Amino acid sequence: MTSSAQPGPVPPSPPVARTHRLVVLVSGAGSNLAALLDAHTDPAFGARVVGVVADRPGIAALDRARDAGVPTAVVALRDFPDRTTWDHALTEAVGVFSPDTVVLAGFMKLVGASFLGRFGGRTVNTHPALLPSFPGAHGVRDALAYGVKVSGCSVIVVDDGVDAGPVVAQESVPVADDDDEETLHERIKVVERRLLVDVVGRIARDGLTVEGRRARLG
Ligand code: GAR
Repeated sequence: MTSSAQPGPVPPSPPVARTHRLVVLVSGAGSNLAALLDAHTDPAFGARVVGVVADRPGIAALDRARDAGVPTAVVALRDFPDRTTWDHALTEAVGVFSPDTVVLAGFMKLVGASFLGRFGGRTVNTHPALLPSFPGAHGVRDALAYGVKVSGCSVIVVDDGVDAGPVVAQESVPVADDDDEETLHERIKVVERRLLVDVVGRIARDGLTVEGRRARLG
């Protein structure tokens, strides 16, 4: 008599980590977006850019997204009767991609109550100055005009203020005596891209905790 071994229970497969979904908001050249698109091809990064949303058409950032095969949307303020309606449309456009984290990477508009109601606490912004110094649209110009010897970049959690949310990470960059806005911004952007990729990867892999003014990775 022969006995044949019965197949035992199939062992459970190891859990597959769900990829953290990023939506990136842009208004211009998109060099920070490009850095995220480079990083997301590596599975070890732990996140993928699943959508790019712009507040204007015809910008290089949108070309970068399309070249990378990432879907895009444009929600331009001028196409809406007021900011509240625009903010609602922006919220819907971002929501289509079901993001875990939203990254403002050179997005030159303030998001409103609708957006923050849905994505608040999981939206970060990169800014080319050491906040709380020199918030707003001209951080590099304002730092130069003030005459600081050190500036840098900040990644913050977005709240309802102007570049006022809790700081997640910062890095300093020296200001040279002969810097103009362009040369200083370029030097900052080299550091900024690395910092943003590092922070976003850590948010995806380890999480982001915000308690009052204190933001912590992991
Ligand atoms: C970046 O330096 C970013 O910090 C800045 O715009 C630049 C966009 O560059 N954002 C702000 O000033 C927001 N207040 P990019 O389009 O090449 O990524």
